[in-house]
Amino acid sequence: MSQEFINVFYIVAAALFVFGLKQLSSPATAVRGNLLSAVGMFVAVVVTLFSQGILEFQWMAVAAIVGALIGALAAQRVAMTAMPEMVALFNGSGGVASLLVGWAALYNPGNTAFIHISILLSILIGGVTLSGSIMAWGKLSEVMASRALVFAAQRVVNALILIALVACGALFMLAPALDSPYLYAVIALSLLFGVMAVIPIGGADMPVVISLLNSYSGLAACAAGFAIQNNILIVAGALVGAAGIILTNIMCKAMNRSLANVLFSGFGAVKTASKVEGEVKPINAEDAQLILEAASSVTFVPGYGMAVAQAQHVVRELGEILERNGAEVSYAVHPVAGRMPGHMNVLLAEANVPYDQLVEMDDINPRIEHIDVAVVIGANDVVNPAARQDENSPIYGMPIINVDHARTVFVLKRSMASGFAGVDNPLFFGENTRMLFGDAKQSISAVIGEFKG
Ligand code: TAP
Repeated sequence: MSQEFINVFYIVAAALFVFGLKQLSSPATAVRGNLLSAVGMFVAVVVTLFSQGILEFQWMAVAAIVGALIGALAAQRVAMTAMPEMVALFNGSGGVASLLVGWAALYNPGNTAFIHISILLSILIGGVTLSGSIMAWGKLSEVMASRALVFAAQRVVNALILIALVACGALFMLAPALDSPYLYAVIALSLLFGVMAVIPIGGADMPVVISLLNSYSGLAACAAGFAIQNNILIVAGALVGAAGIILTNIMCKAMNRSLANVLFSGFGAVKTASKVEGEVKPINAEDAQLILEAASSVTFVPGYGMAVAQAQHVVRELGEILERNGAEVSYAVHPVAGRMPGHMNVLLAEANVPYDQLVEMDDINPRIEHIDVAVVIGANDVVNPAARQDENSPIYGMPIINVDHARTVFVLKRSMASGFAGVDNPLFFGENTRMLFGDAKQSISAVIGEFKG
């Protein structure tokens, strides 16, 4: 296959990536976008393997079938709430693949200095991504303690590792070879650095880390692309790297934190929020129904608990009942509600909630005091007024949906337990707050039952 012919296929694949990414930005087109990008990757892999004479078609077919089976099984089996862990493993796989490709590129004869730098970067970034992602997976799946682990002189130790890494990289570049001891030092130090970079991060900052590691996996792939002079790998890596860093930035903004603060401040490890006390006012489904029946505007604010309870379908059903009753219904989605970016959007889309009823935090907050009832469904941190009021709170400064400013707030959860960030929530003691205790799906079903008489 001529290089021109290969490049035509690569341009098609790159266009599919770009259109796919564009479509991923809306829940209405996201499934198609995912499919388009996957087709692009399939084209790129098949053309590369074939044009380089690496594999015969029958072996590609076998690999595609085995890969598709593993992928389909993993996608079927993973719980929606465990998606971030799965993404962490994907990122780690990307990291190790780039590390191995970079390493293998050293076997190519006649590598230029530029290619050796690319090899070095793909090994270095790939190694950091691999061990960092394994740590992130361990924290998210609670195989290890999920809180931030900070110790004295941590930054000094990290700086020393980084200096050693740069020094070994430079020494490797003086005489790049497969048997260079500095190559193995770079591999070991980058793996160590990945671990050290992730252990001081914990709690609610983990999604940012996942997204950042996603970006690293893209950068590592991009460097690997330069190492083996493969255009489509460069393009795909650059797209993943850029998309990851944009998402990281969006999440940092959603928490009102700088990236440096997320990476180095040790979330929840130092600050202790003020204790919250007061009177809790529980409510039952019957009384909740009476208040909702009289409401002319209702906003649902979903959170992680809605995902756990799988309450999205009954929430939509209740929304429809309220609409028929004459109320204006909306769904206010916080950018980091749940456990992954877009978590709530995916669930609400699955339950066929109309997209035009979804409102963002910045749209609902200015008018929330005119909302009759804000129904909080298994959300906690993203509606915690301590983020506005308590300077000692680890979540201080994080923008929240100001449900406490609505006329009435219903909070649906099973207990008084705290959310992911592990901090108390003064919302539960608010004058206008009523707690509807129980599993969110059962509570909403009970309210629907009251409406149906
Ligand atoms: P959380 O603060 O984690 O609170 C979820 C609440 O749901 C809990 O307080 C829990 O209370 C309740 N709950 C659990 N199961 C329930 C059920 N079956 N029925 C009813 N309620 C149930 O959730 P959030 O407000 O969505 O905030 C998300 C947090 O996760 C933030 O701190 C965010 O930074 C972090 N985070 C976000 C992401 C992304 S990107 N979205 C990823 C990782 C972490 P009970 O136990 O009392 O029921």
